[in-house]
Amino acid sequence: MDVIEVIVRKRDGGELSTEQIDWVIDAYTGGRVADEQMSALAMAILLNGMTRREIADWTQAMIRSGERMDWSMLDRPTADKHSTGGVGDKITLPLAPLVAACGAYVPQLSGRGLGHTGGTLDKLESIPGWRASLSNEEMLGVLREAGAVICAAGSGLAPADRKLYALRDVTGTVESIPLIASSIMSKKIAEGTGTLVLDVKVGSGAFMKSVDRARELASTMVELGTDAGVRTVALLTAMDRPLGRAVGNALEVEEAVEVLAGGGPSDVVELTVRLAREMLETAGVSGKDPADALKDGSAMDSWRRMIRAQGGDPDALLPRAAETMTVEAPESGVLARLDAYAVGLAAWRLGAGRTRKEDPVSFGAGITLHAKPGDLVRAGQPLMTLHADETSRFERALAALEGGYEIGPAAAEQLPLVIERIG
Ligand code: URA
Repeated sequence: MDVIEVIVRKRDGGELSTEQIDWVIDAYTGGRVADEQMSALAMAILLNGMTRREIADWTQAMIRSGERMDWSMLDRPTADKHSTGGVGDKITLPLAPLVAACGAYVPQLSGRGLGHTGGTLDKLESIPGWRASLSNEEMLGVLREAGAVICAAGSGLAPADRKLYALRDVTGTVESIPLIASSIMSKKIAEGTGTLVLDVKVGSGAFMKSVDRARELASTMVELGTDAGVRTVALLTAMDRPLGRAVGNALEVEEAVEVLAGGGPSDVVELTVRLAREMLETAGVSGKDPADALKDGSAMDSWRRMIRAQGGDPDALLPRAAETMTVEAPESGVLARLDAYAVGLAAWRLGAGRTRKEDPVSFGAGITLHAKPGDLVRAGQPLMTLHADETSRFERALAALEGGYEIGPAAAEQLPLVIERIG
């Protein structure tokens, strides 16, 4: 097989054969196709797209590049959720123990944040002692103990995607629906879950800025999952404003614990319960309703067992940033708009996120929102609190927030929290 022939075929708008796709993924993983050749192919895919058959073959080839996990020894169905990423999106934290408390196992492999969106592992690592890296045997032990486990994907899972994702990140080839769909689904199918609920975010703080693009990504992923024998559904959900009132690692853990204690912001509770119902229904588990499991303490019990089983102390004080700064409402009126991207970028500049994969994050850094779109505010009232380890970070965070919120006579139109269900 000749790699240049494969690149040229896609460059000229042709369709790659199953054999070509199998070969190029295998040769790239094995180092026989060079990074510059794969980046040319990725760019040709970004520009010319792929047919559904090509995307399915590409996904299967990436799954075959590594191990496929198997949970068939468990006595209850497995269910997982994947979010395409957003600002203040801490839903996985209350959701996994909640679904476990309602009768399904949740084996979840998560990632770290890059850019303005946070990563679940960074959030959980703010809990003293908590460990993200587990062997497969340890994962099984935590699942049996707590019903849910959230940990880092090992290097053996879809190694082709690991290599290709790092390449896409530095070659302007992330924003391709075939490449995003195959990247996410290769990992989720290899993870071995029986049921998958996808939370595809839409809006300024998400990868997908429009409902149409999000719908295309969601339906591509639902088809890939279904074809691979994973019961898959997707919700398109709002990311034009931040989710909840906390953005930043330890701040988001605190908010997740509030939800598990039966409180928390209404949008976080509503989305957590909706996703939990989708996961349980799709997995065929009936019994306790998730809203009840938040009220009766069973979801909190499952969370505490899960954190302890991974070395964490659920009662430990979480890290706090050394410095805070309050942003006040410049005038009285309604908080008409609060842009998710502006808030995410500001939190990132405060130290909550990283620029390079190797960078550390500040666990205490981030933003607490005191008002959400639609709330009445008075001039001088605190709109948000910025948290950082050094005061020098505030100026650039404030610059990110400039134009990111607006006070007016009435709230601007915003996306419904759950826009659409696919699958
Ligand atoms: N998340 C992934 O895992 N892959 C992508 O391509 C984009 C988001």
